[in-house]
Amino acid sequence: MANVTAIVGAQWGDEGKGRIVDYLAVQADVVIRYQGGDNAGHTVINDKGKFALHIIPSGIFNEETMNIVGAGTVVNFETMEEELAALQEKGVDGENLFIDVRSHLIMPYHRALDGAQERSKSQKMQIGTTGRGIGPCYSDKATRSGIRAADLLDEERLRNRIEMVLEQKNRELAYFGLPEYTVDELMDRCALWRSKFGNKIIDTLPVVRQAYEEGKKILLEGQLGVMRDLDWGIYPYTTSSSPTSGGAAVGSGLGPRRVDEVIGVTKVYSTSVGGGPFMTELFDEDGKKLQTIGREFGATTGRPRRCGWFDAVAVDFSAWINGFTALALTKLDVLDSFETIKICTGYTVGTETITHLPETAEQEIAVPIYEEMEGWMSDTTAARTWEDLPPKAQAYCKRLEELVGVPIKFISVGPERDQIIIM
Ligand code: GDP
Ligand code: IMO
Ligand code: MG
Repeated sequence: MANVTAIVGAQWGDEGKGRIVDYLAVQADVVIRYQGGDNAGHTVINDKGKFALHIIPSGIFNEETMNIVGAGTVVNFETMEEELAALQEKGVDGENLFIDVRSHLIMPYHRALDGAQERSKSQKMQIGTTGRGIGPCYSDKATRSGIRAADLLDEERLRNRIEMVLEQKNRELAYFGLPEYTVDELMDRCALWRSKFGNKIIDTLPVVRQAYEEGKKILLEGQLGVMRDLDWGIYPYTTSSSPTSGGAAVGSGLGPRRVDEVIGVTKVYSTSVGGGPFMTELFDEDGKKLQTIGREFGATTGRPRRCGWFDAVAVDFSAWINGFTALALTKLDVLDSFETIKICTGYTVGTETITHLPETAEQEIAVPIYEEMEGWMSDTTAARTWEDLPPKAQAYCKRLEELVGVPIKFISVGPERDQIIIM
C-alpha cells in the first residue's frame, strides 16, 4: 500500500467505498474522512458485524488506526452519538475517533432548512437530498456564517457566533413556517455535544503531518462520487462539497502532491439515488433485476436506487477529473445471472454523437449508445483470484479497464471483507 491513498467514488455514490476502506484500513495508521457529513451511508461487513457508517470513518474497527473526521467535513454530533453507540454495542469503542477543529457543525436549523428548501421546489427540480442539512451547512460555511467544532470548545465565542447568525436563520425558518430557535436552546445542545465529544475535537494537522513525515500509511475516505461533485457533477443535483481527489487534498490537509495513489471505486454497473440526469437508467426487467440482486436501497435513506448499465463515458470522465491511479471494481457478482451485459460508450445528443461527458442540460437529453457483451452465467462469489473468474467475466472487467484507461487493482465479488480479488 502506498503511503497516502485516496479512496474516491467514481460514479454517483454508493460504489462501495466503505468496504474498500474497511479492507485497506487494516494496514492503515490513519484514516481521514475528507468531506461530506452524515449524508454518507458506507456499508461495512466484517468480523464485528454489519454497519452503515454515516460520519465515522470506515477504519474505526482497527483499534490501532487513528480515525479522523477531517477539516472538510460537516458534523452532526447527534447522529455521531447514535452511530458511536451502535458501534459500542458491537464492541467497537471508538476511542480512536477524532474530529478536526475546522469541521463545521450541522445545527438543528440546517436540517430543518434542508427539508423545507426541498419541499419548496417542484418535483422535477428536487435534488432529493438526504435531508441531513448538508447544503445549508456548507452554504453557511461559504458565507462565513458557519459554526465550527473549534467554537464548541470556547463558550463565549460560541455564544457570539450563534447570536450573530440566529436572527437570520430564524427569519429563514419563519419564511418556511418552521419553529424558531433561541440562543439558549442551541447553547444547551452545544453544551451536551461538548461534554460528549469535546475531548475528541483536536487540531489534527500536526498529527497528520507527523504521521506523513514518519512514513505512516494514510487513507483518505471520500463521500459520494464525482457525478455529484459541486463543481464537476450534475449541478444543481449535486452535494455541496467535493468528493474528488482534489477535495481529498483540501479536506485532509495533505497537499495534492502528497497523495500517492487515487483509487477510483466503481460498481460494474451504475446506480444513483436522488434527482438529476442518469443516462443509462433502466426502466425494464434488467433494471429491476440489478436492483433486486444488488440490493440497491440507500444506506442512509432506504430509498430505492435508480439502476443502469455501466457508463464508461462517465467513469472515464471521473478518471480524468480525479487522476485515478487504479480502479476498484465492485459488485461483479451482481451480474452473475445476466445473459448479456451492456456498456455505454457514447451518447446521442440531438443529431450529434459524442463520446465525452457533456454538461447537465445535455445529459438530460443524452441517449446512451451501448456495446453488448456476453454474460458469464455462473457464480463468482467464491472467486478469490483473477484465475478463479470465468473467462467471460475476465473479458468484461478487461473491457471496462480498457475503456476507462486505468488499471484494475481490486475486484469485489460480495459484500464481506474477504470477498475481494487483488490484481
Ligand atoms: P459506499 O457509500 O460507497 O460505501 O457504498 P454503500 O455501502 O452505500 O453501497 C454499497 C452496497 O453494496 C452495500 O450494501 C455493500 O454491502 C454492497 N457491496 C459492496 N461490495 C459488494 C460486492 O462486491 N458484491 C455485493 N453483492 N455487494 C457489495
Ligand atoms: P455515499 O457516501 C448516494 C445524493 C442525494 C442527492 C444529492 C445531494 O454513501 O456514497 P445531500 O444530502 O448531499 O445534499 O444530497 O446527493 N447523495 C448520495 N447518494 N450516496 C451518498 O453517499 C449520498 N449523499 C448524498 O441523494 O441526490
Ligand atoms: Mg453509500
